[in-house]
Amino acid sequence: MTTPVFRRVVVKVSGEALTGSDSFGIHQPTLERIAADLVAAQQLGVAIAVVVGGGNIIRGVKISATGIPRVTGDMMGILATVMNALALETAIEKAGIAARTMSALAMPEICETYERPRALRHLDKGRMLVLAAGTGNPFFTTDTTAVLRAAEIGADAVLKATDVDGVYSADPKTDKAAKRYERLTHQDAIERNLKVMDTTAFALARENRMPIIVFSIREKGAIAAVLRGEGRATVVGN
Ligand code: GTP
Repeated sequence: MTTPVFRRVVVKVSGEALTGSDSFGIHQPTLERIAADLVAAQQLGVAIAVVVGGGNIIRGVKISATGIPRVTGDMMGILATVMNALALETAIEKAGIAARTMSALAMPEICETYERPRALRHLDKGRMLVLAAGTGNPFFTTDTTAVLRAAEIGADAVLKATDVDGVYSADPKTDKAAKRYERLTHQDAIERNLKVMDTTAFALARENRMPIIVFSIREKGAIAAVLRGEGRATVVGN
């Protein structure tokens, strides 16, 4: 078996990835497949922290268009990430690996609160981390959270799971002429306004020289393939 190229990573799983063939909520077979992929990836000997989004349940920006203030909408989105994290934690444990949800906002009756030293201890003990509630702040995305936590816990890279196999010059689903990039710098991604992540996330990654690997989570075993340096992906790095 090929040795993984990384020792510790943050995997960003969007809320939408959990909807599978549905348009809302958590599609159980998809949740279980993603959990099995994460477990297979960890079994390569890579420590994994998962940052999960909430867009399958609620999206702050979208709901604020209906008249709810943006800050309230973002807090509702933050709560959605906690629901997804609990579902993912359960599925990861069912797939055979101990997992711990840590929330950026204290909700001790539900899960642990994120504290860096405790997060590192969980990873050292071979537990998978599921990081919930984003950064705990409105206006910050879970992509930014993924880069922030990766820098905090000394991860080698952020693996950004999407539904396409990398970064394109335009949306490949609507623009047949969209060009796929093999490699980009953070600066390129910012200047070309590539929508794969927000500018805050790319800027934080650039400052911390954190590679972001964009790949499709639709294929079974995709995370392990990326970790072995075999999967189709775009690397955004310095
Ligand atoms: P170590 O091996 O020392 O890391 O042990 P541990 O994390 O298993 O011990 P701890 O007593 O801290 O936790 C026992 C259980 O309680 C675990 O399932 C934790 O996830 C859970 N737990 C710890 N702190 C909290 C909390 O603030 N809220 C909730 N809901 N559960 C917590």
